[in-house]
Amino acid sequence: MEAIRNFFTIVTCIIILVSCSAEEGPIFIETDEPFEVSFSADIQPIFTNHCIQCHNQNHPTGLDLRDGMSYDLLINVSSTNYAPNLRIEPFSIENSVLWHKIIDDGVFGQQMPPIGDGLSNFEIQKIEEWIIQGALND
Ligand code: HEC
Repeated sequence: MEAIRNFFTIVTCIIILVSCSAEEGPIFIETDEPFEVSFSADIQPIFTNHCIQCHNQNHPTGLDLRDGMSYDLLINVSSTNYAPNLRIEPFSIENSVLWHKIIDDGVFGQQMPPIGDGLSNFEIQKIEEWIIQGALND
């Protein structure tokens, strides 16, 4: 009798544990569906958080990623180190130097940012979606 009661107690505990951990989803949404992304709300904050300690007015490539400077220096602008490839070609991640550098596929030199952990998957996904949707200044 005691053994059966213990058995059911253990089973109940396992069920509670499993259902609790199942409720903890990822803290960010990763999706294959297109989603809304805006330059000012989503993209510039990534540059501000991860890039501008190097990419400011003093950067040797001239790529200043500070708020108010970044957009005009990226869109359809030839890369300094990988000319004539464009830093960002709207609608094409493949033709955008910046995309190759943040995913670190080695096509255009080292990963960006070169220090720290790199961008999160969700940050990369936002930049991809923004380029695919035309890299608007919205
Ligand atoms: C620790 C300093 C540092 C940080 C942080 C950094 N970069 Fe860079 N970046 C460099 C250096 C140095 C180069 C030149 C060497 C090269 O092309 O890899 C460069 C080059 C680039 C280029 C090519 C520019 C051109 O015209 O050829 C792009 C695009 C770029 N970085 C994007 C980024 C992005 C986006 C971030 C943030 C997610 C970032 N970088 C963060 C140092 C940095």
